[in-house]
Amino acid sequence: MYRNSRKLISVLLIIMLVFPAGWITTSAETATVDEETRPTAAEFNPITFEDQTTGGFEGRSGTETLTVTDEANHTDGGAYALKVEDRAENWHGPTLNVASFIEKGQEYNISAWVKLISPESSQLQLSTQVGNGDNASYNNLQEKTVSTSDGWVQLEGTYRYSSLGDEFLTIYVESANNSTASFYIDDITFEPTDSGAVEIEKDLTPIKEIYQDDFLIGNAVSDSEFEGNRLELLKMHHNLITAENAMKPAYAYNEQGEFDFTAEDSLVQKAKDEGLLIHGHVLVWHQQSREALHTDENGNPLSREQALENLRNHVKTTVEHFGDSVISWDVVNEAMNDNPPNPSDWKASLRQSGWLEAIGPDYLEQAYRAAKEVIDENGWDIQLYYNDYNDDNQNKAEAIYQMVKEINENYAAENDGELLIDGIGMQAHYNLNTNPENVRRSMEKFISLGVEVGVTELDVTAGSDNELTEQQAQAQAYLYAQLFSLYKEHAEHISRVTFWGLNDSTSWRAAQSPLLFDEDLQAKPAYYAIMDPEKFIAEYEPVEKEEANQGNASHGTPVIDGQIDEVWDNAAELPVNRYQMAWQGASGVAKALWDEENLYVLVQVSDDTLDKSSANSWEQDSVEVFVDENNGKTAYYEEDDGQYRVNFDNETSFNPESIAENFESATKVSDGGYTVEVKIPFRTITPENNAKIGFDVQINDGKDGARQSIATWNDLTGAGFQDTSVFGELTLVGSNEEEQPEKPTPGKPNKPGKPDKPGKTKKVVIANPPINDNKVLIDDEIIEKVQENGVLEINISRYKQALEIVLTNDQIIHLKEQNATITIKQKNANASFPASVLSDDEEEVAITFDQIDEWEQAWSKALDLLFNKK
Ligand code: XIL
Repeated sequence: MYRNSRKLISVLLIIMLVFPAGWITTSAETATVDEETRPTAAEFNPITFEDQTTGGFEGRSGTETLTVTDEANHTDGGAYALKVEDRAENWHGPTLNVASFIEKGQEYNISAWVKLISPESSQLQLSTQVGNGDNASYNNLQEKTVSTSDGWVQLEGTYRYSSLGDEFLTIYVESANNSTASFYIDDITFEPTDSGAVEIEKDLTPIKEIYQDDFLIGNAVSDSEFEGNRLELLKMHHNLITAENAMKPAYAYNEQGEFDFTAEDSLVQKAKDEGLLIHGHVLVWHQQSREALHTDENGNPLSREQALENLRNHVKTTVEHFGDSVISWDVVNEAMNDNPPNPSDWKASLRQSGWLEAIGPDYLEQAYRAAKEVIDENGWDIQLYYNDYNDDNQNKAEAIYQMVKEINENYAAENDGELLIDGIGMQAHYNLNTNPENVRRSMEKFISLGVEVGVTELDVTAGSDNELTEQQAQAQAYLYAQLFSLYKEHAEHISRVTFWGLNDSTSWRAAQSPLLFDEDLQAKPAYYAIMDPEKFIAEYEPVEKEEANQGNASHGTPVIDGQIDEVWDNAAELPVNRYQMAWQGASGVAKALWDEENLYVLVQVSDDTLDKSSANSWEQDSVEVFVDENNGKTAYYEEDDGQYRVNFDNETSFNPESIAENFESATKVSDGGYTVEVKIPFRTITPENNAKIGFDVQINDGKDGARQSIATWNDLTGAGFQDTSVFGELTLVGSNEEEQPEKPTPGKPNKPGKPDKPGKTKKVVIANPPINDNKVLIDDEIIEKVQENGVLEINISRYKQALEIVLTNDQIIHLKEQNATITIKQKNANASFPASVLSDDEEEVAITFDQIDEWEQAWSKALDLLFNKK
């Protein structure tokens, strides 16, 4: 079994006893209590719904239906859970006010178990809200893409309440990509951690000081940044703010549709009191906006005259109201499509939006003119910006360039060469695959227009599930250094660099730790990288791009009819939830099977509104499968490569066309999503056990005729249509051929009429466990899936650091009872051993890996240890 292992594998593997975990001390002493009148925090009793009440949970909107039910239960020895139905918006869900359990400044561990009812798959997330109204902050604790077959899943995270949000502090469960998903929740806990109070690092050099001669340093804020140590950190490093949400068009009105700037004024006052400059975000946008300004109750566009009057009124009133409290405004935000195919025609590249439909492409120019009129009348010095994301995409940059050029030229001709659009905001929501050279190209293109550039919403996503490995933190720091080096080079044309959030736990992309300060407000490698970017780049090697995602296709043959045959149970889940763009929409779960003729792929998509109104197939709600049969990873398509696209209505398209032959597909639309099942004939290889093919799955989310989001299993670059090196890898496993007692010899077919023997396929259950404090724990539910003679594959290939895989006593007993094999999967090697070698006398067993980087040395030693113990 360990062929080649001496050469391939060397890891120090030690079986050792770990003391029972779970003695986290609660430490009210460490909390900062500074509100004298405030009662001390009460102790939170877990909510199990066993008393058959909702335990204080309510619907966030009030329109959801919450029922205590015995249809499902997670509580040990209990019978009840809370059922959540009739959601209608992504943010709807059960919420609980936890203010009375909170000491200011203290960190809490928050956990809830969830079980999805419908659709088949959906993203679910646990979050906490601080404060109420327009200035509230919404913080995501943990998000997972779950499917109904997952059963109960735990959502858990920590949050430090530096602000008491005027005693409006809630925890809630929502779905960021499915407004109608329904689910159960159970066993909610809320416990102080033992981490004590935190202090910010006062000895750091302020970022604003380093860049004082270059540009302003900004951050995105809500009310909770104006208290305690968050305020200290904000003021120490920044001299400018953008309201993360409060100054968006929707919040300029009260429920009656009248202008109401109460919350905005209070935020503006706080910023002024602290001596911070303010950038206004935003006047005209297709999101977080008041639909009634351009669309009637039946969803039809208002007349051009009416919509134009509303647009001008909205812009003028808002600009007038804030006056020169702001130094600049994002007048129009995100008006361009992503990757427009014909970018020199900017009008054809505009995103379908309510404003465009009612007014036409000149709505942009009209908005800028309205703002400019107010500014000129008052003699204010306020810069007008156009702001957009995916600014590093060359097609999008070109469309923006053409638009600003034309509008500015028109205006200049009438106004002595004066600019109408003063600046272009590059949102800069980047990820580890962002190529800084593309950022440079776009930036230089914008600068060539004679406008200033603002970096307006900078963050760099890395890692997942609130975890960032050292390597990812390093790669993130490197990209930050490259960006700041570029920014310094062009500082003369850059007005400001604004980060989108103060620290990882409060970022809108919290799960992907995108900022300079960690959840305890401490500086990450990225902070040190931007302190002296050139030095950082000189001292460190660029980190290799992330490994391609690895997955398995099990052996089996389904019927292609959109129904999920039992054979799919054998296939491992491949989450399709890496997003290529700033906005995150439909996601899903894929599975793959193979037989001697074909590859089969099943994709269950979570998406509550289906749209195929775009003429471009890739902008419709659709699924794409990418295959590189020889795993050649070429930067162009060879004969064995193909891209297969199926929309929710089972309309297909192919790249190249020739691969359509013998392809089959079926789709099924259900509540909250759709299923795509395809058969892809192998065209150039003879598939066999352990063969690896290049593979990816993509979900396009169409909305109002445009693509609003792209989720994939592996690729983050968007180059998959022409470059196979960005695919993940799929290993074909589980063919039982070798194990069959009588292997039919070629030319001697099985006797007709006699069905093939059911295979003795070993069912492989794959665990991709997260890592926490260097500990890798596996969910009981995954272990329970391991059946007789099955294999538990623990994939730790994405980790490089020393770690412990911890198995509990119950888990070991189950694995032993099933006579299971355990496979530990690392990058270069798999190590397999029977579960029977593990001791079940201990509370827990930890398999410790030291120095995973050095595989060459110690594998045999580790095995000796394992087996000598027996
Ligand atoms: C985001 C906020 O960060 C979130 O809190 C909110 O739920 C959605 O909007 N482009 C923009 C910003 O212009 O306004 C967006 O901010 C992020 C992308």
